[in-house]
Amino acid sequence: MSNLADLEQRALAELASCQDESALRTWHGKYLGKQGEVVAAVKEVVNVPPEQRRAYGSEANRIKVSLTEAYEAALAKIKQLALEASLSADALDVTMPGRAMSSGNLHVASRVMRDVRAVFADLGFQVYRSREVEDDLTNFELLNMPPHHPARDMWDTFHTTIPGVLLRTHTSPGQIHVMREHCPAPIRVILPGMCYRYENITTRSEIMFHQVEGLAIGERVTMADLKGTIVAFARRMFGEERQVRIRSSYFPFTEPSIEVDMDCIVCAGKGCGLCKRSGWLEIMGAGMVHPVVLKNGGYSPDQFTGFAFGMGLERIIMLIYAIDDIRQFWANDLRFLRQF
Ligand code: DAH
Repeated sequence: MSNLADLEQRALAELASCQDESALRTWHGKYLGKQGEVVAAVKEVVNVPPEQRRAYGSEANRIKVSLTEAYEAALAKIKQLALEASLSADALDVTMPGRAMSSGNLHVASRVMRDVRAVFADLGFQVYRSREVEDDLTNFELLNMPPHHPARDMWDTFHTTIPGVLLRTHTSPGQIHVMREHCPAPIRVILPGMCYRYENITTRSEIMFHQVEGLAIGERVTMADLKGTIVAFARRMFGEERQVRIRSSYFPFTEPSIEVDMDCIVCAGKGCGLCKRSGWLEIMGAGMVHPVVLKNGGYSPDQFTGFAFGMGLERIIMLIYAIDDIRQFWANDLRFLRQF
C-alpha cells in the first residue's frame, strides 16, 4: 500500500514538471500506458495477500482514475497555453482586408440582348425562340432559296453528319416556325439567338454570332410600319436624336428588301473613324415578307402582308462600345469581358 502511495506522489510530481505536450505524452506512456507503472500496479493485485486484496485493488483503481483525470487536465491546460502563445506571437490583424471574392457578370452580348428585348417588348413584340440546329429546307428553301440558288453562297454554314441538317446561318428560319405555329393569327415577334457561318474569321466576321430577327404579320402591315418600328427602336436604343435612312437591297425572303443605316452615334453624321467618314452606320437588313415565304408559313399573300428585319447583335455592340474586333466576343479573354 505504501508503494501505491509513493507511486501516486511520484507520478503527480513528475506530471507537474511537464512543460509541454510531448513531455506529457511521455509521462502518460510511463504511468498509464499498457506497460506503464500504474497498470502494472493494478495487475499486482494477484500477488497481494488475500486479506489485503480488496483494499489494494480499490486503492490502485482510485489512483489510476485520479492520475488519468490529472493527466487530461494538464493536457488541456498545456494546449490552451500553446494556443495563447501562438495567438500573441503571430497576432491576427482583423482589420486587414479579406480575400476578395470575384463575382461574375453577364456577358456583354447577354446584357445588350436584354436591352434590345426590352425595347421591342415596349413596342409590343413577343420573344420567340427557335432551334439553332435547322434543316436545309427551313434555313433555305422555305425562305425562297431553292437548292443552287446563288444567294446561298452568302450563307455557307456547318453541316452535321446527317444530310440536310445544319447549324442555322441566320434567325430567319424561325419566321417559318412561328408562322406555322400561329397561322392565321397576326404575329409580332422578335427571334433572338445564336447563328453560325462558315466564314474566314476577321475583325468583322465570326463563325458564331447573335442575331435579332423581327417579324410582323397582319392584314394591313406596310413598309411604313417597318420604318416606324425601326426608327422607334433606333431612338430608344441609341438616343432620341437618331436619324434613320433606308437603302434598297436584296434578300431572297423579302420583296422589296432594304438595308437600314442610322446616323453615326459618334459624329452624328459629320463623318468620323467609326462610320468611315460616311456619317452612317449600317444596323440591319429588312423588307416586306416575300409572298412565297408567307405562303410557306401558311398565310395567304392575298390577305396578309408582313415585314421582317434581321440585325447582328455583336455588330451593334461594336458600335455602342467602339469595339474594333468581333473576335473578342468569344475569345474568353477576361480583360475584355470584365469591362462591361
Ligand atoms: N437573314 C439575314 C442575314 O442573315 C438578315 C435579314 C435580312 C433578315 C432581311 C430579315 C430580313 O428578316 O428581312 O443576313
